[in-house]
Amino acid sequence: MTVVTRALRVATFLSLGLATAAAGQSEASRSAGPADDPTVAAVNPTPYTQAAEKRGRTHYLRHCQICHGFDGRALENIDFEATDLTDPERWRFGATDGDLFRSTKFGAGLDMPPFEAELDDEEIWELVHYLRSIGPEEYRAAAEPENRP
Ligand code: HEC
Repeated sequence: MTVVTRALRVATFLSLGLATAAAGQSEASRSAGPADDPTVAAVNPTPYTQAAEKRGRTHYLRHCQICHGFDGRALENIDFEATDLTDPERWRFGATDGDLFRSTKFGAGLDMPPFEAELDDEEIWELVHYLRSIGPEEYRAAAEPENRP
């Protein structure tokens, strides 16, 4: 290998590396928090029904339990810490229905993937009903007005 070819290879290698690093970085900053989408409703627009909550549970078991755990508490996780979805006090990206929707649709932090390709909006709102059902009572009431005393 001539010196020139070697230099060229090194240059190509370096620029490829830089491009990858840059791509990685923009990916990281893109998903640094839920996208700030003002069109997302603050309160779940899908009316609460037990059927909707049950469909939400199915979405949860299919897409979320692998990281957040069967019961939402993420206690078995060893690779990275997925959020305890039963404890709104510990959530970093907000606790309104709209915040849950955005985190799910667009991703949250560095390790929470976006689900906009897997779940449509209706399914995500059903998921929000399910997440409320596994959370504390005071957060649940808002989501289930029909259950209020
Ligand atoms: C690949 C693993 C993984 C999967 C699958 C996953 N999550 Fe997450 N999720 C995470 C991690 C890790 C975080 C913590 C991100 C952070 O705080 O930086 C998180 C954070 C969240 C948050 C934000 C909590 C807060 O602090 O505000 C919500 C809401 C959430 N996940 C819901 C879901 C739902 C709903 C699903 C299924 C559709 C799901 N996640 C699937 C790993 C995952």
